[in-house]
Amino acid sequence: MKNLFRPRLKQDQQNLTLSLDKNNIPEHVAIIMDGNGRWANRRGMPRIVGHQNGMKAVKRTTIAADELGIKYLTMYAFSTENWKRPKDEVDFLMKLPQEFLALEMDELVEKNVQVKMMGHTDALPKYTIAAMEEAVKRTENNTGLVLNFALNYGSRREITESLRTAVQEIASGTLQLEDLNEDWISSRLLTKGIPDPDLLIRTGGEIRLSNFMLWQLAYSEFWFTDVYWPEFSKEHLIAAVAEFQRRTRRYGGLT
Ligand code: FPP
Repeated sequence: MKNLFRPRLKQDQQNLTLSLDKNNIPEHVAIIMDGNGRWANRRGMPRIVGHQNGMKAVKRTTIAADELGIKYLTMYAFSTENWKRPKDEVDFLMKLPQEFLALEMDELVEKNVQVKMMGHTDALPKYTIAAMEEAVKRTENNTGLVLNFALNYGSRREITESLRTAVQEIASGTLQLEDLNEDWISSRLLTKGIPDPDLLIRTGGEIRLSNFMLWQLAYSEFWFTDVYWPEFSKEHLIAAVAEFQRRTRRYGGLT
């Protein structure tokens, strides 16, 4: 696995964009942003420098996705398992939304981007939630690309909680067993109102899902690259979309 393709000229970028089929752009792209730490280590820098540069890649990719006509971009920023990391690193990651708001938001607001957040807010520090809520509020009337941050997100917990709600509602009589179906479950997940991803991208060379959107990715196309997240560029996004367009989606049926 490589996918390290990296043309350098602006002209190359334009030609690549033009080579895409405008009528087959994935509506929702979800990204597992991996490789921040290794990117920094390779440069002899602390891991947090990787996260800092990862934040810049978030803005760059959001703008690129918007330019390509993608409507929803979900970014895995912090998983329910990431608490196992050293406290310093967790603290740094928890402060990133504030920094993002201060440094990167203006351009996204200008681009009509709408920020959303999905995750289990109970364990997050107040200042992290406040920064995310401010970003959400500042952009709530925007009508462009939806930038959905998965923050303290865990798919198994998300599904477990929807099952708990179902059991409670059935016990109290507000839900009939025969009405408990896939649509009901989808409507109780943290992605409520957002279509399932068409394309999943994971950077950093690992080929796994790491508890990310297990329900929602049932029929998504996957694209993996060795590129570390801080180096992810518009060219990589175009390469992923181009590969998506070469796939035939059958949803279990026949073409
Ligand atoms: C995985 O790389 C990355 C993360 C756990 C954090 C990702 C967060 C960002 C890119 C910034 C998000 C921005 C906002 C505004 C919330 P890793 O640290 O596991 O890398 P490694 O596998 O090389 O160690």
